Amino acid sequence: MIPVNEPHLGARELEFVSECVRTGWVSSSGKFITEFENRWAQYCGRKHGVAVSNGTVALQLAFEALDLKPGDEVIMPTFTIISCAQAVVYAGGTPVLVDSDARTWCMDTTQLKNKITARTRAIMPVHIYGHPVDMHPVMDLSEKHGLAVIEDAAEAHGAEYRSRRCGSFGLMSCFSFYANKLVTTGEGGMVLTDDGALAEKLRSLRNLCFLPGRRFYHEELGFNFRLTNLQASLGVAQIERMDEIIRKKRWIGEEYTHRLQHLKTIQLPVEEKWARSVYWMYGIVLSPDTRMNAVEFAEKLKSRGIETRPFFLGMHEQPVFQRQGLFKGECYPVAERIARQGLYLPSGIGLTPEQLRTVCNGVNEVLE
Ligand SMILES: Cc1ncc(COP(=O)(O)O)c(C=O)c1O
Repeated sequence: MIPVNEPHLGARELEFVSECVRTGWVSSSGKFITEFENRWAQYCGRKHGVAVSNGTVALQLAFEALDLKPGDEVIMPTFTIISCAQAVVYAGGTPVLVDSDARTWCMDTTQLKNKITARTRAIMPVHIYGHPVDMHPVMDLSEKHGLAVIEDAAEAHGAEYRSRRCGSFGLMSCFSFYANKLVTTGEGGMVLTDDGALAEKLRSLRNLCFLPGRRFYHEELGFNFRLTNLQASLGVAQIERMDEIIRKKRWIGEEYTHRLQHLKTIQLPVEEKWARSVYWMYGIVLSPDTRMNAVEFAEKLKSRGIETRPFFLGMHEQPVFQRQGLFKGECYPVAERIARQGLYLPSGIGLTPEQLRTVCNGVNEVLE
C-alpha cells in the first residue's frame, strides 16, 4: 500500500532526541522548547512562540486568551477540521460560517462582509491543504471593523501569501505539528503572536496559570497544554530541513498536476498568482460526470494499493453542532460538493517518483 503520508525523520532528529534521553530533560522544561519556539517564530516572521501539545489546543488556547463573551461571534470556514469550531465553542463563543472558494477550497472571503454583525469579535482564516487564504480582504475587514484575526496555519507551514509567510498575519496564528504535517513533533502545536503581553497570557494559560512568585496559588484557571522537550527536539531538527521539505512537497504537487491535468473529470489544486503553496496534501475533486463519489473512488484506488483520505465534512453538517442548534438550515454548496467528491492522494515527502507514477496510473485507470 502506498501510504497517504509518512513522517520522514533522520539522523538529526535521532541525535536531538537521544540528547534529551541522555540528559534526562524529557518533560516540559529544557533547552529545546525555547529553541523550537524561537526558531519557529523567527521562521514565520513573528516575535513570540508558545509551544503546546497539539494543534487543537493551540486554537483552544488562542480563543481562551481572546476572552470571548457568550454570544461573541467568530467567522470561519465551514470546510475545515472540527478543532477550529470547537475551539470557539469551548471558549464560549459562536462560530459563524462561510463557504469555500471553488478554486482554492479555502474560505470564500467575498462572503465575510455579509456575516459581520455587532457581535463579531474575530475572523479565523484556515489555509487549506497547503494553499493560503486570500488574506487582503480578511485583513482589510479586520482593520475596518476592529476584529481580531486568528490564523490557522496548521496545513501551511512555509506557504506564502504575496511573499509573506502564512502564520505571520493577525493577532495570533496557530500551528499543528502532528505526524502528517510538514514539520512534525509527533504530536505538537504552537501559537505565535507579536504581542508580548498576550504571549505571557498564553504561557500562563498553557501551564495551569501558576503564578511565578508563589507556588500552588492561582488567580485564574488554566490548562496543562505543555509540549515536552523530547517533542520539541524533533521540531528543532525538522526546522533545519524546511527548505528540503518544501522543495519535495512542491515537486510532488507539480508532478501530480503535470501527470493528471489531461483528465477532464477531476479538479486539481490551483496555485493562485498571489500564492506559494506547499501542497501539504494533494487533493482532487471528482466531477459528477464520473458518476462516482469520493468513497467509491477511494475503494477502487485502495484495491490498487493506493491509500487516500476523504476531504473534510463541513461544520454545518456535523451532528454534534446540529444537536446544539447551531447552523440550522444553513447550506454551503461548494463545501457540500467537495466534501462528497474530494479526496487526497499520497503526498508524504518519502513518496518516490515510481510510487507517484503508480498513483497516477491508478487514477487514470479508474477514471477511464
Ligand atoms: C487546519 C487544521 N487545524 C487544526 C488541526 C488540529 O491539529 P492537531 O491534529 O495537532 O490537533 C488540524 C489537524 O490536522 C488541521 O488540519
